[in-house]
Amino acid sequence: MGKLRVSSFAVSIDGFGAGPNQDLENPIGVGGVAIMDWFFSTRTWQHMHGHDGGETGIDDEIAAQGLPGLGAWILGRNMFGPVRGPWPDESWRGWWGEEPPYHTPVFVLTHHPRRPLRMAGGTEFRFVTDGIQAALQQAKEAAGDRDIRLGGGVSTIRQFLRAGLLDELHLAGRPVLMGAGEALLAGIELPALGYEAVKHVAGDRAPHVFLRRCAP
Ligand SMILES: NC(=O)c1ccc[n+]([C@@H]2O[C@H](COP(=O)([O-])OP(=O)(O)OC[C@H]3O[C@@H](n4cnc5c(N)ncnc54)[C@H](OP(=O)(O)O)[C@@H]3O)[C@@H](O)[C@H]2O)c1
Repeated sequence: MGKLRVSSFAVSIDGFGAGPNQDLENPIGVGGVAIMDWFFSTRTWQHMHGHDGGETGIDDEIAAQGLPGLGAWILGRNMFGPVRGPWPDESWRGWWGEEPPYHTPVFVLTHHPRRPLRMAGGTEFRFVTDGIQAALQQAKEAAGDRDIRLGGGVSTIRQFLRAGLLDELHLAGRPVLMGAGEALLAGIELPALGYEAVKHVAGDRAPHVFLRRCAP
């Protein structure tokens, strides 16, 4: 059985995984780019998005480790895009162009039904309206023995943590203060839920901390 894991998730030093007021011009919320720049700088991220170049080194190696062996992804609706409420039409197709960097089925949590959206390169966005357990079940069926990556955003990761369903969480810390936005871990008692910090690695742009759910 594969794992459910979060990889390469960036947090500011004051605990935010996204800035406030996400919109088309601010996909990570206002000021959110400051927490993601360690990842955007890597060769791995550049290649995922069809670009040459990017930095090599520890951050890049760790970013690359998050990709192999995936059979499905799960995202929250805000990570998929800035559209809120009932879908006005089917014109929003994600932030990533016609060939998104997932290459698997991607289960998007939302309260608003929508038909599946097949993209180039093997990505298919499937919209799940009956909650995290249903999304996980569908992702497991799609992934088989492979891992499922929980891409985010913040609200979605918090739900899976609270339910004790997430096996591994890799956080990349950034030395910036957001002050506002989406707080990742506020009010979540990770030790009581069975999570332990099992490894840490100093990267060039970010310290990396690896949490694992050790309790049954
Ligand atoms: N720091 C990082 O590394 C990183 C990584 C990925 C994303 N992000 C950022 O995180 C932000 C998004 O996070 P977020 O917390 O705002 O939102 P999110 O988790 O992406 O999506 C939340 C939305 O998904 C739907 N949803 C979530 N759980 C659901 C459930 N159980 N049942 C039905 N629908 C459900 C709801 O949308 P509806 O009710 O509207 O349908 C909810 O408002 C973005 O700015 C993104 O760029 C950061």
